[in-house]
Amino acid sequence: MGTSPEVLVAYATAAGSTAGIAERIAAVLTGAGSRTVCAPAGPELDPAPFDALVIGSAVHEMAWLPDALELLRRAAGTGRPVWCFSVGGLAHPDGRRTRWMARGELDRIERGFPPGLTPRDHSLFAGVVDVRRSPLWGRVFYRLTGSSSGDHRDWPAIEAWAGKVAASLQAGTPDPDLPA
Ligand SMILES: Cc1cc2nc3c(=O)[nH]c(=O)nc-3n(C[C@H](O)[C@H](O)[C@H](O)COP(=O)(O)O)c2cc1C
Repeated sequence: MGTSPEVLVAYATAAGSTAGIAERIAAVLTGAGSRTVCAPAGPELDPAPFDALVIGSAVHEMAWLPDALELLRRAAGTGRPVWCFSVGGLAHPDGRRTRWMARGELDRIERGFPPGLTPRDHSLFAGVVDVRRSPLWGRVFYRLTGSSSGDHRDWPAIEAWAGKVAASLQAGTPDPDLPA
Protein backbone atom coordinates (compact mmCIF):
# COMPACT_ATOMS: atom_id res chain seq x y z
CA MET A 1 0.00 0.00 0.00
CA GLY A 2 1.33 3.46 -0.81
CA THR A 3 1.59 6.37 1.57
CA SER A 4 -1.87 7.67 0.67
CA PRO A 5 -4.35 4.83 1.06
CA GLU A 6 -7.83 5.20 -0.42
CA VAL A 7 -10.36 4.50 2.30
CA LEU A 8 -14.11 3.96 2.14
CA VAL A 9 -16.11 5.03 5.19
CA ALA A 10 -19.57 3.55 4.70
CA TYR A 11 -22.53 3.61 7.05
CA ALA A 12 -26.15 2.63 7.52
CA THR A 13 -28.43 4.87 9.52
CA ALA A 14 -32.11 4.99 10.42
CA ALA A 15 -32.34 8.44 12.00
CA GLY A 16 -29.10 10.12 10.91
CA SER A 17 -26.72 10.08 13.86
CA THR A 18 -24.48 7.36 12.38
CA ALA A 19 -23.97 9.46 9.23
CA GLY A 20 -22.53 12.29 11.33
CA ILE A 21 -20.14 9.89 13.05
CA ALA A 22 -19.02 8.43 9.70
CA GLU A 23 -18.38 11.94 8.36
CA ARG A 24 -16.29 12.81 11.40
CA ILE A 25 -14.24 9.60 11.05
CA ALA A 26 -13.72 10.36 7.35
CA ALA A 27 -12.58 13.91 8.20
CA VAL A 28 -9.99 12.57 10.65
CA LEU A 29 -8.69 10.05 8.09
CA THR A 30 -8.51 12.75 5.42
CA GLY A 31 -6.66 15.03 7.83
CA ALA A 32 -4.17 12.21 8.44
CA GLY A 33 -3.41 11.89 4.73
CA SER A 34 -5.84 9.26 3.40
CA ARG A 35 -7.94 9.76 0.33
CA THR A 36 -11.37 9.16 1.80
CA VAL A 37 -14.85 8.56 0.43
CA CYS A 38 -17.77 8.71 2.88
CA ALA A 39 -21.01 7.19 1.59
CA PRO A 40 -24.18 5.41 2.72
CA ALA A 41 -24.03 1.62 2.41
CA GLY A 42 -26.18 0.28 -0.39
CA PRO A 43 -26.15 -2.26 -3.19
CA GLU A 44 -24.51 0.20 -5.62
CA LEU A 45 -21.52 0.89 -3.34
CA ASP A 46 -18.53 -1.17 -4.50
CA PRO A 47 -15.89 -1.79 -1.80
CA ALA A 48 -13.42 -3.41 -4.23
CA PRO A 49 -11.49 -0.32 -5.42
CA PHE A 50 -10.51 0.77 -1.89
CA ASP A 51 -7.39 -0.12 0.08
CA ALA A 52 -9.21 -0.20 3.40
CA LEU A 53 -12.81 -0.14 4.59
CA VAL A 54 -14.41 1.45 7.63
CA ILE A 55 -18.02 0.31 7.93
CA GLY A 56 -20.52 1.35 10.56
CA SER A 57 -24.16 0.92 11.40
CA ALA A 58 -26.82 2.02 13.77
CA VAL A 59 -27.75 -0.87 16.07
CA HIS A 60 -31.33 -2.09 16.06
CA GLU A 61 -32.31 -5.12 18.14
CA MET A 62 -28.63 -5.86 18.85
CA ALA A 63 -27.82 -6.12 15.13
CA TRP A 64 -26.60 -4.02 12.23
CA LEU A 65 -29.02 -2.65 9.66
CA PRO A 66 -29.33 -4.83 6.52
CA ASP A 67 -27.51 -2.45 4.12
CA ALA A 68 -24.41 -2.38 6.35
CA LEU A 69 -24.44 -6.16 6.84
CA GLU A 70 -24.75 -6.73 3.13
CA LEU A 71 -21.82 -4.38 2.42
CA LEU A 72 -19.82 -6.15 5.13
CA ARG A 73 -20.42 -9.47 3.34
CA ARG A 74 -19.08 -8.00 0.11
CA ALA A 75 -16.20 -6.31 1.97
CA ALA A 76 -15.17 -9.67 3.44
CA GLY A 77 -14.84 -10.97 -0.11
CA THR A 78 -12.33 -8.25 -1.05
CA GLY A 79 -9.76 -9.34 1.53
CA ARG A 80 -9.18 -5.68 2.40
CA PRO A 81 -8.68 -4.66 6.02
CA VAL A 82 -12.01 -3.74 7.63
CA TRP A 83 -12.68 -1.58 10.68
CA CYS A 84 -16.19 -1.61 12.15
CA PHE A 85 -18.11 0.79 14.32
CA SER A 86 -21.55 0.40 15.84
CA VAL A 87 -23.77 3.22 17.03
CA GLY A 88 -26.21 2.40 19.78
CA GLY A 89 -28.23 3.78 22.62
CA LEU A 90 -25.85 3.08 25.50
CA ALA A 91 -24.94 6.62 26.55
CA HIS A 92 -21.48 5.84 27.98
CA PRO A 93 -20.17 2.63 26.40
CA ASP A 94 -16.73 3.17 27.93
CA GLY A 95 -18.01 3.95 31.43
CA ARG A 96 -16.70 1.91 34.35
CA ARG A 97 -20.10 0.32 35.06
CA THR A 98 -21.32 0.04 31.48
CA ARG A 99 -18.20 -1.26 29.71
CA TRP A 100 -19.28 -4.89 30.21
CA MET A 101 -22.66 -4.10 28.62
CA ALA A 102 -20.88 -2.59 25.62
CA ARG A 103 -18.70 -5.72 25.33
CA GLY A 104 -21.83 -7.91 25.46
CA GLU A 105 -23.52 -5.81 22.82
CA LEU A 106 -20.46 -5.92 20.54
CA ASP A 107 -20.38 -9.73 20.91
CA ARG A 108 -24.06 -9.99 19.99
CA ILE A 109 -23.58 -7.74 16.97
CA GLU A 110 -20.52 -9.68 15.78
CA ARG A 111 -22.51 -12.93 15.85
CA GLY A 112 -24.43 -11.45 12.90
CA PHE A 113 -21.24 -10.66 10.95
CA PRO A 114 -20.30 -12.80 7.94
CA PRO A 115 -18.28 -15.88 8.85
CA GLY A 116 -14.57 -15.41 8.25
CA LEU A 117 -14.65 -11.64 8.66
CA THR A 118 -12.31 -10.48 11.42
CA PRO A 119 -12.44 -6.72 11.75
CA ARG A 120 -9.19 -4.96 12.67
CA ASP A 121 -11.25 -3.34 15.41
CA HIS A 122 -14.90 -2.90 16.32
CA SER A 123 -15.98 -0.02 18.52
CA LEU A 124 -19.35 0.92 19.99
CA PHE A 125 -20.24 4.61 20.06
CA ALA A 126 -23.22 6.32 21.62
CA GLY A 127 -25.62 7.89 19.12
CA VAL A 128 -28.71 10.03 19.33
CA VAL A 129 -31.38 8.43 21.45
CA ASP A 130 -35.10 8.99 21.14
CA VAL A 131 -36.62 6.95 23.94
CA ARG A 132 -40.11 7.40 22.46
CA ARG A 133 -39.07 5.53 19.26
CA SER A 134 -37.70 2.58 21.22
CA PRO A 135 -39.42 -0.73 21.73
CA LEU A 136 -40.60 -1.42 25.29
CA TRP A 137 -37.53 -3.47 26.27
CA GLY A 138 -35.39 -0.62 24.96
CA ARG A 139 -37.11 1.82 27.27
CA VAL A 140 -36.43 -0.54 30.18
CA PHE A 141 -32.77 -0.76 29.05
CA TYR A 142 -32.48 3.03 28.93
CA ARG A 143 -34.04 3.32 32.37
CA LEU A 144 -31.60 0.74 33.82
CA THR A 145 -28.52 2.32 32.22
CA GLY A 146 -29.50 5.86 33.09
CA SER A 147 -29.73 6.88 29.44
CA SER A 148 -32.16 9.48 28.23
CA SER A 149 -33.25 11.05 24.97
CA GLY A 150 -30.60 13.26 23.43
CA ASP A 151 -27.39 13.44 21.46
CA HIS A 152 -24.85 11.28 23.32
CA ARG A 153 -22.21 11.27 20.59
CA ASP A 154 -18.78 11.50 22.21
CA TRP A 155 -16.78 13.36 19.56
CA PRO A 156 -13.41 13.12 21.32
CA ALA A 157 -13.87 9.31 21.64
CA ILE A 158 -14.89 9.07 17.97
CA GLU A 159 -11.92 11.18 16.86
CA ALA A 160 -9.53 9.16 19.05
CA TRP A 161 -10.73 5.92 17.47
CA ALA A 162 -10.45 7.38 13.97
CA GLY A 163 -6.94 8.51 14.88
CA LYS A 164 -6.02 4.92 15.76
CA VAL A 165 -7.39 3.72 12.42
CA ALA A 166 -5.37 6.43 10.67
CA ALA A 167 -2.22 5.40 12.52
CA SER A 168 -2.65 1.75 11.44
CA LEU A 169 -3.22 2.84 7.86
CA GLN A 170 -0.13 5.01 7.86
CA ALA A 171 1.88 2.21 9.44
CA GLY A 172 0.93 0.23 6.37
CA THR A 173 -1.50 -2.65 6.23
CA PRO A 174 -0.53 -5.75 4.28
CA ASP A 175 -1.50 -5.64 0.63
CA PRO A 176 -3.92 -8.57 0.10
CA ASP A 177 -2.86 -8.76 -3.56
CA LEU A 178 0.72 -9.55 -2.64
CA PRO A 179 1.81 -13.07 -1.64
CA ALA A 180 2.61 -13.39 2.08
C1 LIG B 1 -36.19 0.26 16.79
C2 LIG B 1 -34.90 0.60 17.51
C3 LIG B 1 -34.15 -0.43 18.06
C4 LIG B 1 -32.95 -0.15 18.73
N1 LIG B 1 -32.21 -1.18 19.24
C5 LIG B 1 -31.04 -0.90 19.88
C6 LIG B 1 -30.23 -1.94 20.41
O1 LIG B 1 -30.53 -3.13 20.30
N2 LIG B 1 -29.08 -1.61 21.04
C7 LIG B 1 -28.67 -0.30 21.16
O2 LIG B 1 -27.61 -0.04 21.75
N3 LIG B 1 -29.40 0.72 20.67
C8 LIG B 1 -30.56 0.44 20.02
N4 LIG B 1 -31.32 1.48 19.51
C9 LIG B 1 -30.81 2.86 19.62
C10 LIG B 1 -30.13 3.32 18.34
O3 LIG B 1 -29.13 2.44 17.95
C11 LIG B 1 -29.49 4.70 18.54
O4 LIG B 1 -30.53 5.62 18.79
C12 LIG B 1 -28.65 5.15 17.37
O5 LIG B 1 -28.06 6.40 17.66
C13 LIG B 1 -29.46 5.25 16.09
O6 LIG B 1 -28.58 5.62 15.03
P1 LIG B 1 -29.12 6.45 13.77
O7 LIG B 1 -29.48 7.83 14.31
O8 LIG B 1 -27.96 6.51 12.83
O9 LIG B 1 -30.28 5.72 13.21
C14 LIG B 1 -32.51 1.21 18.85
C15 LIG B 1 -33.29 2.24 18.29
C16 LIG B 1 -34.48 1.95 17.62
C17 LIG B 1 -35.26 3.08 17.04
